[in-house]
This record gives sequence, structure tokens and C-alpha cells, in this order.
Amino acid sequence: MRAQAEYLADDAIAVPAYLSRTYWWAYVHPNAVTLFERQWLVNLILWGNFGRLRDAALDALGERLEGRTLQIACVYGDLTNRLRSRLTPGGSLDVVDVLRVQLDNLGRKLRGDPRVGLIQGDSSALDIESATYDRALLFFLLHEQPEDVRRNTIREALRILKPGGRLVIVDYHRPSRANLLYLPMVGILKTLEPFAMNLWHHEVEEWFPEKPAVSCVEKRTSFGGLYQLLTVTKA
Ligand SMILES: C[S@@+](CC[C@H](N)C(=O)[O-])C[C@H]1O[C@@H](n2cnc3c(N)ncnc32)[C@H](O)[C@@H]1O
Repeated sequence: MRAQAEYLADDAIAVPAYLSRTYWWAYVHPNAVTLFERQWLVNLILWGNFGRLRDAALDALGERLEGRTLQIACVYGDLTNRLRSRLTPGGSLDVVDVLRVQLDNLGRKLRGDPRVGLIQGDSSALDIESATYDRALLFFLLHEQPEDVRRNTIREALRILKPGGRLVIVDYHRPSRANLLYLPMVGILKTLEPFAMNLWHHEVEEWFPEKPAVSCVEKRTSFGGLYQLLTVTKA
């Protein structure tokens, strides 16, 4: 494997330190795309729940997506393809990710659909005007981010929404003690995903900004509490 620095230098936008230190093997290195861009593998990582979580996220966003939708961070597998299949004829989708290698991979999967825009940017400091989008999706991004970055990502996701816009968040959650995966997941997350356990000890709402205010937060958990889905409406 080549040194990470060779890839970091390719990008005009700085790769966040947590990503190059902790997740270079999963996202930054080009071989990561070759290895992880397999639906069965991402499904395995989510204990067979990828399809269920993807569809729950899409249903929370809406059956038919009019106006402008923002997906914050690329996702391996077919989430974005399924998302764009819900766009109405006038609807559009943008996907923002900090890594060019991930956007290039997504571009290949989308085969140049003009309704989908790919934006290189950092979720914690989006170069996007406030109140631009009707809805936004954060699918398994927050657990990968240190707390300060996570807080800024949520603030930005709410900022770029129009009033009344919807933010859908899917991520890890503390499972019940009776869940057979409780202890294995402690081991896995502590070893591979050092910022994730924070989501077991805090409600995502604790990282919400005071402004823009939200008018409604609905929370559902699944798979014995291991995953959570939040539907947030901006006031
Ligand atoms: C959505 S998360 C995890 C998704 C899921 N584990 C999967 O199967 O892909 C992974 C993506 O987040 C992106 N990412 C991480 N930190 C980011 C940030 N600060 N801004 C934008 N994208 C970021 C990574 O580049 C990567 O493409």
C-alpha cells in the first residue's frame, strides 16, 4: 500500500485529520473503494440490515422527492441510486463528500445523471447558501466524526435546509443489554470506530444547535436498539 499522504495531496479540499488517521483504509485509499464497494459487504457490516436501514431512510425522506435533496457524504452500495429513483421529474439531488475518490466512485455508479450534482466539500463547513434544500440525509456519517465535527455537521445540515425542511439521520445507537450483539459491538466500535461509542452515551439532539430551531424530532430505533433513525423538521 502506498502512503496516505500521496492521496491527500490530490484533493484541493483538506482531508479531515480523523478521516486520514482513522478511516484511511475504509475511504481515503483508492483500494478502499475496490474493496468496500460491494453491497453484500456493507450489508454484512450492518448485520444484514443495509436494505432495511436504506429503505427506512428513503421512506422518511419521502415517497416522491420534489425540489432539492442533499445527501451528505457518499455511501457504498446502492443508496444514492435508490434515492435518485424517487426524484420527481423536476427534482434534483446533490451529494457532498470531502473525498474526491468517493465522489469519483459515486459518479461511476450514477453514470452521469444530470439531475445529480456531486460536490466536494466538508460537512462541517458547507460552502452552500442557507435555506437551499428541501431535505437532507446523514446516513452513518455522524458516528465517524469527533464530537466537535459532528456538532458542526448537524448545524450545517440544518442551516442549508429551507424552513420546514426535513433532515433524516440514520446511525448507531446504544442497543439493549439483551441484544446478543451488545458486547461484540463494544469490541468492534472501540477497535475500529473510536468516535462511535459517543452515540451510545448521548442523544443526537444534544448536538443540535439552538438556531436554527427544529420544530419536531421523531426517533425510532431498530435491531434491538443498535440503530436509530431520526426525522427532524426545521422550524
Ligand atoms: C457516510 S460515511 C459512512 C457510510 C457507510 N459506512 C458506507 O457504507 O459507506 C462515509 C463517507 O463519509 C465521508 N466523510 C467523512 N467525513 C466527512 C466530512 N467531514 N465531510 C464530507 N464527507 C465526509 C467519507 O469521505 C465517506 O465517503
